[in-house]
Amino acid sequence: MGGTQAVIGAQWGDEGKGKIVDILSENVDMVVRFNGGANAGHTIVVDGKKRVLHLLPVGIVRPVPWCAVGPYVACDLDVIADELNIANNCFSKVLLDEGAPVVLPHHKTIDALREKASGASAIGTTGRGIGPCYEDWVARRGIVLGDLRSPERLRKALEARGYYAEREAVVRHYGGEMFSLEETITWARSPYILPHLGDTRSLIADQLRLKKRVLFEGAQGVMLDIVHGGRPYCTSSFCGSGAIQASLGVHKLDRVTGVSKAYTTRVGSGPFPTECHGETGDLLRERGSEFGATTGRPRRCGWLDLPALKYACRVGGITELIITKLDVLTGLPRIDVATDYPYSPSAGSMSLTNEVLSETVALCETLPGWTEDIRACRTFDQLPPTARGYITFIQDHVGVPIVGVSVGPDRNDMIWMEK
Ligand code: IMP
Repeated sequence: MGGTQAVIGAQWGDEGKGKIVDILSENVDMVVRFNGGANAGHTIVVDGKKRVLHLLPVGIVRPVPWCAVGPYVACDLDVIADELNIANNCFSKVLLDEGAPVVLPHHKTIDALREKASGASAIGTTGRGIGPCYEDWVARRGIVLGDLRSPERLRKALEARGYYAEREAVVRHYGGEMFSLEETITWARSPYILPHLGDTRSLIADQLRLKKRVLFEGAQGVMLDIVHGGRPYCTSSFCGSGAIQASLGVHKLDRVTGVSKAYTTRVGSGPFPTECHGETGDLLRERGSEFGATTGRPRRCGWLDLPALKYACRVGGITELIITKLDVLTGLPRIDVATDYPYSPSAGSMSLTNEVLSETVALCETLPGWTEDIRACRTFDQLPPTARGYITFIQDHVGVPIVGVSVGPDRNDMIWMEK
């Protein structure tokens, strides 16, 4: 039977969505990336071999008939070239939406120059030009993938309404340099992309009419969402399920699966109420290999933040949860978990803005840990009682069913509650 399912990050990104999408891809006809760009790094581990994808859906390494990149994805042409090479050696047909914005070299330049000029108040972006690309796209300027069809069309788009000259002025303002218009036109010629261009929205609609199964792969997480995340310490796209509805015209989602780690991580600047400095933070980072898949930066680590998770489920439209990296907590004598923000007994219903998150001190409860190796567990009952207690505690607090628990990096290291 056909159907739609979305996989959404329920924290500040890096929740392990790559692994979940990889597993779910086994049983679908199409996987669609719908937001963000090469700021994402979706890691999958197959037979102990690690692979990181940034832009094309992770479904390209499975025999999924179609993999698509929607019109709301900021497309980095160099990354697409690399990942099309992987896709060509695999199984899927890849379709890239003609309307998707292209990250131009000066977007990365502006991203880097602005961050440098911001000093201590820098956002800590991934440097992939995401903010400047989306800002042009929203202002209806810059280029989209369809403009790559001919040099004339490309030139027209770059010159329209003084676009290129204005970007040059911005770069000059920061004392930087950028490609000339001619150099950008030469740079943007990407013949390998042309056979993959098309209308992803219509393909998805056709697939759904044919009762095919379509999986939507989210990037980043709801706590980094442009509206619901803590601005300005967030990314520049919508990260919840609404992004699918708005950008792809798919309004009925059968399942919206949020992914959360059993603890919390964050890369870049911004408030982090449950952050652990010192020994515990270092331990989580080491044991969880918490280093950015895109930038290699060490991730900030801390305890699970249930008010934030509850909020992410509400505003992101999440109807079920998968908890990842439970195995990383093995051996900890006690596990703290934030259950409330003290000045707000109803944290579940307030908007977690930058101001709210900066001022809050998370109230934590302490639960007992476990010492048994849980990586071989395949059913909930096989988990030690304290690990089961931890998962049940999360579910009861958030009020959203937990349908899966990941107990190791490999595809098979999973416990599915439904089975
Ligand atoms: P940008 O998306 O590169 O502009 O970065 C804005 C903020 O979002 C920074 O704090 C980044 O570290 C964070 N961010 C962007 N993409 C990801 C991701 O895939 N995982 C985790 N953090 C991310």
